[in-house]
Amino acid sequence: MELIDGKKVSLAIQEEVAIEVRTLIANGGKQPHLAAILVGNDGGSETYVANKIKACERVGFKSTLLRLPGNVTEEKLLETIEQLNTNKDVDGFIVQLPLPKHINEHKVLEAVIPQKDVDGFHPVNVGRMVLDLPAYISATPFGIVQLLDKYNIPTAGKNCVVIGRSHIVGSPMSILLAKNAKVGNCTVTLCHSKTVDLKSHTLNADIIICALGKPEFLKADMVRQGAVVIDVGTTRVPSTESKTGFVLKGDVKFDEVSPKCSFITPVPGGVGPMTIASLIKNTLLAAKKEIYK
Ligand code: GUN
Repeated sequence: MELIDGKKVSLAIQEEVAIEVRTLIANGGKQPHLAAILVGNDGGSETYVANKIKACERVGFKSTLLRLPGNVTEEKLLETIEQLNTNKDVDGFIVQLPLPKHINEHKVLEAVIPQKDVDGFHPVNVGRMVLDLPAYISATPFGIVQLLDKYNIPTAGKNCVVIGRSHIVGSPMSILLAKNAKVGNCTVTLCHSKTVDLKSHTLNADIIICALGKPEFLKADMVRQGAVVIDVGTTRVPSTESKTGFVLKGDVKFDEVSPKCSFITPVPGGVGPMTIASLIKNTLLAAKKEIYK
């Protein structure tokens, strides 16, 4: 079993971006600038956004964090998005999810202009991704593709089971892995809450992407010997053993599943850091106007 070190790969990608940023600036270019909108004070979102800002500092990007209260009106949020859309200094920006219930997420994500949508959540970017046109690819699936690539994990002709059909992970992941691409050409099965006999699917899988958000859901008896397991779950579970009062749990029962795997990602330190690396890469693409020329 080989542990996939997402933290190491993420830092290596960030180092490559840092070098490119230095060259860009040395040649008279503008410092890339990522902005983030954080609504309310959800603990997980606070941590994710703080990590994104830290990564900006690491690679030499300018960053701006715009905080809005949890009871902000949808109108005010849309106004803030419009200000970032038209701010010439901002190359790309994100609205951290989840949003409070009173805000229409689709309306918000559609308000971000596709040219600055470095999260790749806008329907235009999703559509372009599906059609193999240049697009910002959603950070988590993009990060997983890069991990499979870095570890030279064969994908062509492999049976891949994606568990979870969320718009930001499961759905785009299933599309990316079925593409005729270097990391791709899988026979993909997208499983979800209505799947009958999930185990019959996972036992047939060479690669399992677990993205349903249920701690320790995937057990050893659901995985075949030699499978590649990618764990996207990051659920905060209360714990008295940690100073923070919680521990981060993946969707995979790691201790029992890992001995059966050829490769597996840990939580933390697997997919999470790659999401950050992908966002940073997308922001560099935005600064260089490489997707929308
Ligand atoms: N919430 C969970 N994952 C993400 C992500 O990749 N981007 C944003 N904006 N919010 C998230």
